[in-house]
Amino acid sequence: MQRKKEFFLPEINADAPPPQPQFSLPDALCPCCGATSIPNGGDATAFICPHCFWEIDPFLHTEDEPSDQNHGITLRQARENYATFGISSEKYLQLPHAPQEIWRRRSIRRFSDSPVYPETLCEILRAGMAAPSSKNRQPWKFIVVSGGAKKEMLAAFQQGIEREKHSTPLLPESREHIAGAEHTLEIMRCAPITVFVTNPIGRSLFQSLTPEERIAEICNIQSIGAAMENMALAAEGLGLGSLWIGDIFFAYEELTRWLDTDGELMAAMAFGYPAEHPEKRPRKSLADTIEWR
Ligand SMILES: Cc1cc2nc3c(=O)[nH]c(=O)nc-3n(C[C@H](O)[C@H](O)[C@H](O)COP(=O)(O)O)c2cc1C
Repeated sequence: MQRKKEFFLPEINADAPPPQPQFSLPDALCPCCGATSIPNGGDATAFICPHCFWEIDPFLHTEDEPSDQNHGITLRQARENYATFGISSEKYLQLPHAPQEIWRRRSIRRFSDSPVYPETLCEILRAGMAAPSSKNRQPWKFIVVSGGAKKEMLAAFQQGIEREKHSTPLLPESREHIAGAEHTLEIMRCAPITVFVTNPIGRSLFQSLTPEERIAEICNIQSIGAAMENMALAAEGLGLGSLWIGDIFFAYEELTRWLDTDGELMAAMAFGYPAEHPEKRPRKSLADTIEWR
């Protein structure tokens, strides 16, 4: 007797009718975990769940039938596996995983008083410098602020926020975020260390750019982003917490003046030992974020 799956696979049975899609994306809800399944490529009309890896099997009639598509396991077993391991089949646990630091890292907004030793910080900075960069330009300089310098830096940040609020705002359309910047300032007060990153070959915020200059600037910004993420992950691996800080731009002029260095202020990240362990923050779904072609 012809196996039911072959009937739908023209490369196996040349006389079979062309495959008809069995599901459209919004309908392709995983019967194992309920997430939206995605086409798993190739010519077959197969949908796989990117969350638990259950492949939708249109030939299953009951949850106790072994599924060809799912290496012979039943939907009931898959659901039990999902409840136990978070994945439809135990064997998927052996699949390679991305480094755990990626999944464990959180933005940390409360730090303990424990000091960060220079050796530890240097390891984090080396991780930043190991990042890829466009044309290997390494468009970064790291300025480590701690101890007495921290007080001056915080004063410059505070001054910028006051100016934004009461005199000549640089970011008039971002008024609603000033309260957030004040909160960030308080977090930085508690963080033992803040690392500022400048781009020594960066273009001023106020400069108009040719398309080529803009592309170089975009690539340099991406390179600095890679360095920042490397530092955040290295910190996580070393047991430290980090907070990436974009609110520095409310005090762009004041901090630039205080840093008194070549190039453009690009980014800042606070580091310290965490005094909180936040839950994972929500992420958009794979279905809303990724387009599969
Ligand atoms: C470029 C950038 C700028 C950020 N600026 C700030 C900031 O100024 N203050 C703050 O509290 N968090 C800041 N964050 C942290 C984000 O709020 C945080 O990454 C996001 O809410 C997701 O949380 P998670 O990092 O714990 O996953 C920034 C993150 C990035 C990538």
